[in-house]
Amino acid sequence: MADFKLADRLAALPPYLFAAIDKAKAEVAAKGLDIISLGIGDPDLPTPDFIIDALHKGAQKPVNHQYPSYVGMLGFRQAVADWYKTRFNVELDANSEVVSLIGSKEGIAHFPLAFVNPGDTVLIATPNYPVYGIATEFAGGKPEYLPLLEENDFLVDLEAISDETWQKAKMIFVCYPNNPTAAVATREFYARLIEKAKEFNVIVVSDAAYTEIYYDPANKPLSIMEIKGAKDVAIEFHSLSKTYNMTGWRIGMAVGNPFLISGLGKIKENVDSGIFQAVQEAGIAALQHGEPHAEKFRAIYKERRDVVCGALTKAGIQHRVPEASFYIWSKVPEGYSSSEFVTNVLMQTGVVLTPGNGFGAPGEGYFRISLTVNNDLLKEAVSRISNL
Ligand code: MLT
Repeated sequence: MADFKLADRLAALPPYLFAAIDKAKAEVAAKGLDIISLGIGDPDLPTPDFIIDALHKGAQKPVNHQYPSYVGMLGFRQAVADWYKTRFNVELDANSEVVSLIGSKEGIAHFPLAFVNPGDTVLIATPNYPVYGIATEFAGGKPEYLPLLEENDFLVDLEAISDETWQKAKMIFVCYPNNPTAAVATREFYARLIEKAKEFNVIVVSDAAYTEIYYDPANKPLSIMEIKGAKDVAIEFHSLSKTYNMTGWRIGMAVGNPFLISGLGKIKENVDSGIFQAVQEAGIAALQHGEPHAEKFRAIYKERRDVVCGALTKAGIQHRVPEASFYIWSKVPEGYSSSEFVTNVLMQTGVVLTPGNGFGAPGEGYFRISLTVNNDLLKEAVSRISNL
């Protein structure tokens, strides 16, 4: 028998958060417990039919059966640029400022390979989507975590970062609307971040996957690209996954600084061959005609949010009412750690939650609820938790 070993970089990683949750869920389901899964942000609502129809039509065209472009069809990149113009009033050149991605996770995971050298420092606002740290480590970089604290409304305290830290940093990852805390960035926050990044020559990586899940149309989440100077220093990752219920389709995009976009494009030329063009054609349909559907989805999430927040309040569980994203960031009851609480809830009630510490140390003491099941199941889940 051969004696193979994982590479050190992989062996050193803890189990991937959402894969570990799936495993625990399967183990509990095998014992016969009725599972309600609030663990992952995977929309339960179906992709709208017109998007599926566009895929079907696209799949029938022989031209789409060959290799796609590495960086995406120009038609898809133009649809992204047009959508940014309509939604954020941001002008993008589809040729140089947009790249298509096999879901934003793929782009985020590859991006540090383009710009981080071994030993480089990468600042990561945490609690965070685990891929920022994993991607940094795969590139040989050193993650340095910046705590997001409740007293700072879960925004990075930019003034608390020393000049020395800024000087050694190659890039900084931020995510707003934030996963997992649901905090929303202000214009002033982004402006200061851009100012600092320019001063210290630091790449800003903005993960904006949740901008379309908002609850107050008068107060829509921003894209960092709306802020003056963003294109000098920033790349923004976005996705069709959460907006149009397309997590399984694997389609996303990055936009922004042309040099950063071309660096990511160069990585993609070397490691993947782009997205099936029929999926890109479906993506074009989604971006061009999806807004009325997105509006309906928001109304559904709003109802769910209100149901869960009402039930949590009744049960005496402290939580943050989200203005955006479909996550509720809640405090674990006193006397438990995040993992103990989430494990107890799973074992005893079958309700799957995400432990706050799974997103990094400052997430300890919290758990995350994902509003990705219907109202009846949400009510049932909160009632099981509060009975416990
Ligand atoms: C989450 O639950 O945090 C996300 O859905 C995971 C992902 O988007 O990959």
